[in-house]
Amino acid sequence: MKVLLLGSGGREHALAWKINQSSQLDKLFVAPGNAGTDQIATNVEIGVSDFKAQEEFIRTEGIDLLVVGPEAPLVEGVQDHFKERLPELKVIGPSKAGAELEGSKEYAKKFMSKYEVPTAAYRSFDASSLNEGLQFLEALNPPYVLKADGLAAGKGVLILKDLTEAQAELKAMLKDNKFGDASSKVVIEEYLDGIEMSCFVLTDGKDYKILPSAKDYKRIGEGDTGLNTGGMGAVSPVPFANDDLERKIEEKIVKRSINGISKEGFDYCGFLFIGLMIVQNEPFVIEYNVRMGDPETEVVMPRINSDLLSHFIACAEGKLSNEDLQIANESATTVMLVSGGYPESYEKEKEITGLDQTADCLLFHAGTKRENDKILSNGGRVIAVTAKGDNYRDALAKSYRNAERILFDGRYYRKDIGFDLMS
Ligand code: AMP
Ligand code: GLY
Repeated sequence: MKVLLLGSGGREHALAWKINQSSQLDKLFVAPGNAGTDQIATNVEIGVSDFKAQEEFIRTEGIDLLVVGPEAPLVEGVQDHFKERLPELKVIGPSKAGAELEGSKEYAKKFMSKYEVPTAAYRSFDASSLNEGLQFLEALNPPYVLKADGLAAGKGVLILKDLTEAQAELKAMLKDNKFGDASSKVVIEEYLDGIEMSCFVLTDGKDYKILPSAKDYKRIGEGDTGLNTGGMGAVSPVPFANDDLERKIEEKIVKRSINGISKEGFDYCGFLFIGLMIVQNEPFVIEYNVRMGDPETEVVMPRINSDLLSHFIACAEGKLSNEDLQIANESATTVMLVSGGYPESYEKEKEITGLDQTADCLLFHAGTKRENDKILSNGGRVIAVTAKGDNYRDALAKSYRNAERILFDGRYYRKDIGFDLMS
């Protein structure tokens, strides 16, 4: 089987690492990839949204299976493009219609209410209903949760304590295009006070397999302070997710969501990443994503013992229920090394050293490139340092021991990943 994987982050390096272990793999290509994927697969210089160049490459190389890492090409319809043009190609990633679960927060909320998936109460507004939105905010208790409807690079959610500020932001989103087209509609929802975790599901649109759960750390600063980032670290499994909570997540969230996907008739073969808020041991959905998380993939993949490529093939053939997904009992943790200044402006092209000084860990490259014999930083998030252990403390100690050894100018990482789990 020849596989093409789209993307260039730590998520894609972790997926490539896992796919690479399959006995069914003949050759793996990553487009565009990074200096990490380059060590284990063949990088191809094609952008994730360049369907035309991808098609040409797929035809020339005789690719059998396409795995879509990030959300943008899915929301843009990459799956539909290839289903129409190359019906034999297996695609891991939903159709454009299914990708609306991530592409439109309003659509996702309607879907959840239709299929009785627990979520925060909400209303949505556009420019013509701005005044109603302003009044609606007055009727709510703080904090106020405002969500731009469309994709806004993870920045479209605002949580505000002050009513006047919330009203000003609503106006900025709807009237002044604060997030461009993405905020032409805004969902205002009830604030849920709880603890977050993520559930990952692989589905063929009818059946599903629940992958290891994970918790990520989105803020740049220790103690979960400062600006939001793509994710600064993650742990798997989530230590507070007891059997009772896992059962509720499966019954109330996963089964109802997959039932909805099946009833809507989406051509959906791929991941569903469900962001959850746990309030008094009850799960509520705060968002759907139609891809894996980053850096969650860097802790989820190392805990899967069975053959991911075989699960993908079964998924694409609508036979996922036959698969035996095996998950390791161990914990996995990852600590993200980022460029100084991230998530605001930062410098790239810093030489990374010490990679060969690490031991007993997995290094997943996020934003790196190779130039001659050197590995240089090439993004805000640079390298995810993953380790496994009997419990998350052992794993974290190994992640940190190795994180210290990797050096580049301006390197920063949070030293408190998992801080809220220590009891
Ligand atoms: P999202 O982009 O939807 O993941 O939202 C970004 C972050 O906002 C989430 O990770 C949560 O921390 C927070 N959030 C989203 N919705 C709510 C809500 N209804 N109540 C409290 N926090 C929320
Ligand atoms: N780590 C959060 C995300 O991938 O959306």
